[in-house]
Amino acid sequence: MTILNWNSAYSVGNPQLDEHHRKLFNLINTMHDNMKSQNGTEDLPKLLDELISYTQYHFSAEEKLMSMHGYPELNEHKIEHDKLIKQALEYKGSLGKGHDLTISINMLNTLTNWLTNHVATMDKKYKGHI
Ligand code: FEO
Repeated sequence: MTILNWNSAYSVGNPQLDEHHRKLFNLINTMHDNMKSQNGTEDLPKLLDELISYTQYHFSAEEKLMSMHGYPELNEHKIEHDKLIKQALEYKGSLGKGHDLTISINMLNTLTNWLTNHVATMDKKYKGHI
C-alpha cells in the first residue's frame, strides 16, 4: 500500500530535486510495505541504510544548489538536514540491536512525518531561489 504519494503540491520548482523527493517518498513506501510483510522486519535495517544513503546524497545536492544560488536560509536548512541524519543513524543503531516492533513503527512514523513536513515547508521556501 502506498503511504506517501508525491504530487505537484510538493514540487520545489526544480525537476532534479523533485525527482529526489519522489525517490525518497518511494523508499519510505517500500519500508512501510516491508514492515507489513511477514518477514519484512529482517530487511528493515538494509532499507534504512538505503534511505540514509540516498538522503545524504539528496541533502548534499540540495545544499550545493542552495549555496550556488546564495540562498539566504542555507545554514538553518542544513541544521535541519543534519538533525534528521543524526536521528536516522540513531534508529539504525537501535535496529542493529535486534528487532523491536515499537522502535520500527516509531521510526517509520517519524521519518514519514519529517519528510513530508520538511519538503512541504522548508524545501518549498527555496522555490524561486534555485
Ligand atoms: Fe529536500 Fe531539504 O531536503
